[in-house]
Amino acid sequence: MASKPFPVLENDLLLRAARGEEVPHTPVWMMRQAGRYLPEYHTVREGHTFFETCRSPDLVTEITIQPTRRFPIDAAIIFSDILVIPQAMGLEVQMVPGRGPVLPEPLAGPADLKRLIKTDVSESLHYVFEAITQTRHALDGRVPLIGFAGAPWTLMAYMIEGGGSKSCDKARAWLFAEPGPSQKLLDDITEMVIAYLSRQIEAGAQFIQIFDSWAGVLAPEQFARYSLPTLRRIAAALRSDYPEIPLAVFARGAHYALEDLADSAFDVVSIDWTVDPVAARRIVGDRVTLQGNLDPATLFASPDVIRRAVRSMIDAFGANRYIANLGHGMLPAHRPEHAGVFVDAVHEISSTTKAA
Ligand code: CP3
Repeated sequence: MASKPFPVLENDLLLRAARGEEVPHTPVWMMRQAGRYLPEYHTVREGHTFFETCRSPDLVTEITIQPTRRFPIDAAIIFSDILVIPQAMGLEVQMVPGRGPVLPEPLAGPADLKRLIKTDVSESLHYVFEAITQTRHALDGRVPLIGFAGAPWTLMAYMIEGGGSKSCDKARAWLFAEPGPSQKLLDDITEMVIAYLSRQIEAGAQFIQIFDSWAGVLAPEQFARYSLPTLRRIAAALRSDYPEIPLAVFARGAHYALEDLADSAFDVVSIDWTVDPVAARRIVGDRVTLQGNLDPATLFASPDVIRRAVRSMIDAFGANRYIANLGHGMLPAHRPEHAGVFVDAVHEISSTTKAA
């Protein structure tokens, strides 16, 4: 299919920092940078459920671009959700306002694996790829567009728990009591994720991030056995087919896995705010770019406090092989102006640090 060429990328700092190249200042973006803390997000969402919004390329394009109008951020991330994969595999997922995702009929046991379907992502998730292509054109080369997916373990946890869960007891129980079916489920999800991310890249995604948001509930041994191999398979497959696309992983809470993640064909390892950046750098060396990790709660403080926190964050990470971000997502109660203070502080402080 012939398609219009994409505009030339003007700001490629994110991609350069991911590859370990020199940059004039540290690139910055925020997890959940498009979302409920922005009044313009609520305006677009009016009258549409969350997943209706995700299925409309026009609405997705608008929401994805919104934060780039307000802030001089160095990337846009496509507006979607990690739970579109369980949906494509045949499970119902609802986004309940004030409560988060709910899967009314989660997998109750291995016999339920037969409820899952294998779909061709080009069909079941075509709306994501259309939205990515449309957003790439609408961004007009201003900043790169990030595509993403959930990690197999995190998606498995949602599919078994039926929603968010502090400790994922049921999903962890599967790993011990049903190792065979657990492995089968993880393998099937891994295949879907590889196909999904490949198509995102073909549709125009320029940087890929994998979210293993529930990595932190696993013992190191269970992570090494059940999550890490799937992350490695995804990274290796994308690296071999799309060597120019930087790959990032955010395994929240998996402080014990930094060494392994640095050795897994990822270019970028993203860390949450409970990880000490100096210790993280000592572990990963210059094998990967680190990304993170301001505690999102910092943005509730005054601009002065935010700037001081950014300064110590940049001092701790060092100016090279670094992408600034929060240690997790923006929160609905955040003030947009404070996100702006964060972004500006990263640019100002990192450019003077580099000049010094
Ligand atoms: O701006 C961006 O970062 C891109 C969009 C994005 C969303 N979800 C939109 C969203 C991304 C990258 C995600 C990923 C995602 N979704 C993750 C991994 C990152 C993480 O936060 O750990 C996870 C675990 C999910 C599952 C999910 N979706 C949860 C737990 C929730 C509820 C969160 C809450 O605070 O209520 C969602 C809903 C969701 N996804 C919202 C947004 C903007 C808010 C719901 C709404 O606007 O109606």
